[in-house]
Amino acid sequence: MNLERLNTQAQQEVSNVNSSQDLENWRVKYLGRKSELSLFFDSLKSLPFSLRKKQGRKANHIRQLLLSLYQQKREDLEKNQPDFEFFDLTRPGQKIKRGHLHPLTLILREIVHSFEKIGFEVVEGPEIETDYYNFDALRIPENHPARDMWDTFWIKSPPSQAGKLLLRTHTSPMQIRYMEKHQPPLRIIVPGKCFRFEATDAHHEFQFHQVEGLMIGENISLANFKFIIKEVLEDIFKHQIELRFRPSYFPFVSPGLEVDIRQKQDTRYKKQDTNEWLEIMGAGMVHPQLLKNIGYETNRWQGFAFGLGVERIAMIKYGIDDIRLFFGSDIRFLEQF
Ligand code: FA5
Repeated sequence: MNLERLNTQAQQEVSNVNSSQDLENWRVKYLGRKSELSLFFDSLKSLPFSLRKKQGRKANHIRQLLLSLYQQKREDLEKNQPDFEFFDLTRPGQKIKRGHLHPLTLILREIVHSFEKIGFEVVEGPEIETDYYNFDALRIPENHPARDMWDTFWIKSPPSQAGKLLLRTHTSPMQIRYMEKHQPPLRIIVPGKCFRFEATDAHHEFQFHQVEGLMIGENISLANFKFIIKEVLEDIFKHQIELRFRPSYFPFVSPGLEVDIRQKQDTRYKKQDTNEWLEIMGAGMVHPQLLKNIGYETNRWQGFAFGLGVERIAMIKYGIDDIRLFFGSDIRFLEQF
């Protein structure tokens, strides 16, 4: 092998190197494990000792030269590197992906807005309640069969806590809390989360939202309730629904009733194929015993209360057939709103 020729060729090539990638290729070619020089060192083993020594020294000298060439070129390249990276200001930017409101937030805002338009004040209450406000004050004492209507998540209470703590099963405790601090006439809604220890299915979740309503005045009757609920629901559904009122029982109202809705079957905007009624709320005239316990004059003040299921409204409005989709966090579902 001609070591001189190798040296000259390597020197010529390194002078044309302009990038670190080219320099790396050059290093592999002249100094790498499979380079001519390395192969030459391997072949020395078979030479007689005196020749091996002479050729070995020469090859080592060339290797040192090439190594210092490599080192020098590397430093040159580093020095000449621009201290900024080219940035094309005219390049179109990347679109930022924006989130949006959850369908339940959208519908809750719509419901609240509809009630606000007819003068209802919005009030909020605690999600962790005492058994007194969630049950006893609503005429559902311990061992009363009506407590079975609400399977409950009980919470370990500190010893100093009077009564037991639970995740509220409905928003009705706020009827009592509000009346304790305010005098009639009054007109409020209480949007909020409720929890029930029950098996889930297409229409039942263990966490869901209600909007409680309470209106107390001198001449308030169920006729007022029917009118207001019809107005609000028609506002939300743009007249596309039918309503049905059924007698029912809740210990804190008398008489009690339930309200069902379904999409008008002839509507052009029909979202669901089924013709079934869906129960959306419990309601009734506030039981006189509740008013008496608060200290209101029962021969002067009376009124109605209701508890509206928010998920059920959203299901009808958006044509959703399974309530579990709301909390399933499936992005394919959420992106449709
Ligand atoms: C109540 O919770 C009463 N507090 C309502 C009430 C208020 C009656 C004021 C009288 C006066 P009920 O358990 O029926 O009642 O629930 C009311 C609404 O909440 C139901 O119509 C339904 O729309 C919704 N709801 C109840 N349970 C669930 C659940 N597990 N998942 C989703 N929605 C539910």
